[in-house]
Amino acid sequence: MQKKMLTGFRPTGKLHLGHLHGNIKNMIQNQDKYENFFFLVDWHALSTEYQDTHNIKKNLIECVIDLIALGINPEFTHLYRQSDIKAIPELTLYLSMITPMSWLERCPTYKEQIRELKAKDLSTLGFFSYPVLMAADILIVNADIVPVGEDQLPHLEITREIARRFNHLYGDYFSEPKEMLSKSTRVPGTDGRKMSKSYGNAIFLSDDRNTVKKKVRQMITDPERIRKTDPGHPRVCNVFAFYKIYRDREIESIEKRCRKGEIGCTACKDELAGIISDSLEDFQEKRARLLKDKEYVYEVLKKGSQKVNIIASNTISDVRKKMGID
Ligand code: TRP
Ligand code: SF4
Repeated sequence: MQKKMLTGFRPTGKLHLGHLHGNIKNMIQNQDKYENFFFLVDWHALSTEYQDTHNIKKNLIECVIDLIALGINPEFTHLYRQSDIKAIPELTLYLSMITPMSWLERCPTYKEQIRELKAKDLSTLGFFSYPVLMAADILIVNADIVPVGEDQLPHLEITREIARRFNHLYGDYFSEPKEMLSKSTRVPGTDGRKMSKSYGNAIFLSDDRNTVKKKVRQMITDPERIRKTDPGHPRVCNVFAFYKIYRDREIESIEKRCRKGEIGCTACKDELAGIISDSLEDFQEKRARLLKDKEYVYEVLKKGSQKVNIIASNTISDVRKKMGID
């Protein structure tokens, strides 16, 4: 039987360059090898955004459009919304019966997020049990491979522990999912910090040529370089970090012309902006077409959830039998 690859994605709204190099790329590159499940986790979004929910649905649709425009092909991938799979919370409930609280208490992401997101009150049951919901996302289709970033590894470990415990208590049923780690290319934002929508330093995949140019012009370069003829230090320059991502093969000559003061920073930036915009052209055309055809996007989500719901209800009926309530 074909192996199943699954990943969940937070509906953060339109995607930026930083998103490109994570699990999305892994999903797209491996799409023809597995049965694929790619879903937008609106329930997980609720666990941290419950105080201000008005963007969740809009962001989700934007995200789906971007994903399709990037190359997630609904012919090969079940693309769906977490909250359309009502068997997930049912499985979450069953799994929560067998999950010791201590596993969740010691989860490093739990402690870290409470510390990091101080402005939000995360002392809720929903946030505490986040990893159980994630385990249900994965186990509901018995996924084999889960493309994730390193930050999600503790959650995947808890998923395996829960699966093992279930199998031990009620007989073998769940397989233990393995991670597929994305080689994380750290994409800097225009201010040099990690690119993130909330830092306001992101270049969005949908940005037009002018916007990209303006944003690249704002990037911090070598502070010691005042005149064009001053020798530059590309290693401290944010623009250069982008050249490494986009022009790795020519990187030595780009480095040289900077060190020798052969090119001014403004020209260097405008050239980069052109490279970025060129690379986004196909994507933007496709995105524009999809924006005019939202019905198609809703149809994709509907079809995706119909297929997954069949698998999910099978799992639930097996689980109920295994646990002895059916
Ligand atoms: N927790 C993941 C994140 O924040 C998203 C997620 C939810 C997920 N359920 C999943 C990822 C299942 C992989 C598999 O990025
Ligand atoms: Fe950076 Fe380019 Fe200026 Fe060199 S020339 S400091 S690489 S922007």
